[in-house]
Amino acid sequence: MTVAVFMDNLKEEIGGYFGLDLPEYEALYPQAVHYQSARSAICAVLECNGLQRVWMPGYVCDSVLRAAEMAGIGISTYSIDDSLYPSDLPNTLSDGEVILYVNYFGLCQSVVNRLQKRYLPEQLIIDNSHALFAPHNGVLATIYSPRKFAGLPDGGLLLHSPALIISAPSVEDQGSFERMRYLLVRASCSAREGYKAFQEARDSLQNLPPLAMSRLTRRLICSIDWSWVRSCRRDNFARIAKWLNPINAIRWLPTEEDIPLCYPLVLSGVDVAAVKAHLSAHNVFTATYWPDALPRLKSGTIEAALTQDTLFLPIDQRLDLTRVDSLGQQILAILKTNSFGRKEQ
Ligand SMILES: Cc1ncc(COP(=O)(O)O)c(C=O)c1O
Repeated sequence: MTVAVFMDNLKEEIGGYFGLDLPEYEALYPQAVHYQSARSAICAVLECNGLQRVWMPGYVCDSVLRAAEMAGIGISTYSIDDSLYPSDLPNTLSDGEVILYVNYFGLCQSVVNRLQKRYLPEQLIIDNSHALFAPHNGVLATIYSPRKFAGLPDGGLLLHSPALIISAPSVEDQGSFERMRYLLVRASCSAREGYKAFQEARDSLQNLPPLAMSRLTRRLICSIDWSWVRSCRRDNFARIAKWLNPINAIRWLPTEEDIPLCYPLVLSGVDVAAVKAHLSAHNVFTATYWPDALPRLKSGTIEAALTQDTLFLPIDQRLDLTRVDSLGQQILAILKTNSFGRKEQ
């Protein structure tokens, strides 16, 4: 072997200063097409196969609807019933029509399975942004958003059937470095101080053409022990359910395939916004899914209840069972005080 060939084989950089010491686990969905966000993966899918119309739930964040608008496709919306199953979809779809269903909170695999019995695989796009561990099951496209499950700046993954004619994006996203800011501020200061940077990072994903996931995000994804993430979430959900199921207006019954994003506690007669503010003042932060959807929703529906009357409690891998127990007890104690009754208008 000549010296030149020998040196050429040494592509890996060694020596010099140290980089971050990140562990290396298995890649998450190595066969997926890697995008800079879930919304861009959705946009890319809707641009394929000459699709003409997508049926979207009204109960979804604006970013998903905007992804469809960016793809330049017609949009019709549908409602969901109390089991979060679509209630007013047509039985027969025309050529070029597809349905996008969100596996809400990682708790709706049974709904996905029902839809798969009713429609052809090529007619279904499953948005698993809330359900990172839910299977792909051969539908036209399944989209994941790992940053909702662990500390990552961005990223979207697409698994698809051979029926989807799509090519991987060739231009790499350059924004991850700046989007790291909120993760670093949380690590070095606090979640509260990093929140503005989190919002900026999220907003920076808007209105971008579908780009390839950055090498930074790809590397960070491999540094996470996803099987541990998975088992913590299941255990924590089961534990908090023991405390809060008796007061929950929805009885969540996760199947073996459901790995939840959070524990949605649907409350009636409670001023949930006030409870959220109280919790936040005590450093317990809860998401809201989705205030931007409200103008599309009818009052008195499950969708409105999920938006306005639901506490989405954390059950993620940062919490051990003792912390989950104290969170469950804290919520029960807060609700018992009677200070959070909904004011009649
Ligand atoms: C159901 C759902 N799908 C898709 C998205 C978009 O995910 P991303 O921020 O990775 O684009 C979100 C969140 O914003 C979401 O809640």
